Amino acid sequence: MLTWYMNSCSYPCLELIPLKEKPMSTVLETIQNRYSVRGFKDTPVDRKLILSITEAARLAPSACNAQPGRFIAVTEKSLLKEIVLDGLGGVVPNKWAISAPVIIVGCAQLNLLTHRVAETVKGIHYHQIDLGIAMEHMVLRATELGLGTCWIGWFKAKNIKKILQIPPDWKIIALLALGYPQEVNTARTPRLDREKILFFNKIK
Ligand SMILES: Cc1cc2nc3c(=O)[nH]c(=O)nc-3n(C[C@H](O)[C@H](O)[C@H](O)COP(=O)(O)O)c2cc1C
Repeated sequence: MLTWYMNSCSYPCLELIPLKEKPMSTVLETIQNRYSVRGFKDTPVDRKLILSITEAARLAPSACNAQPGRFIAVTEKSLLKEIVLDGLGGVVPNKWAISAPVIIVGCAQLNLLTHRVAETVKGIHYHQIDLGIAMEHMVLRATELGLGTCWIGWFKAKNIKKILQIPPDWKIIALLALGYPQEVNTARTPRLDREKILFFNKIK
């Protein structure tokens, strides 16, 4: 049965999304459900879903609220093919991405004053942190909607910028492949034990 629900968002009209299953899962459950999907069905992703996923990026926090994220959702088959053939590759070929019906290109606008000042004073590339947060927001929202994603950090920025006519002052930080998973994977890649990564108070 098709159910509709409205979530809390500043553009409720975009958020009226038909869902086949009850959507309510906790954030932790969504995090547990996520894994990198590297094979997608040949099913297009409804534009409403793409709007909802990118809305999660728009609402993400950013250093000084500078909001450097600019996102290009590529859905045209010819462009997707060009990106995979000419814009990926290198150490990690990422040829699996040819099956993705959507690739979201995450860029950071570089010339924001607040970021330049903070970067000079602190030596931290805040735009990279901001994009990481915004893009993982999209990953989790996509997971919640039953879609699969995979981050793509190995790409040829120059080629992709040319293909998509991205302005010179936007830096591509990462790509996300998005679509319906070819198969559901219940196995998870291992993580370090908690004792290795978490310390309360002083490190003994
Ligand atoms: C910033 C970043 C860049 C990544 N780049 C790639 C990539 O280029 N190709 C790829 O297949 N996976 C890429 N991944 C996915 C990781 O390999 C994957 O998240 C990790 O192995 C853990 O597996 P899991 O996502 O299934 O939990 C990237 C992940 C992140 C966060």
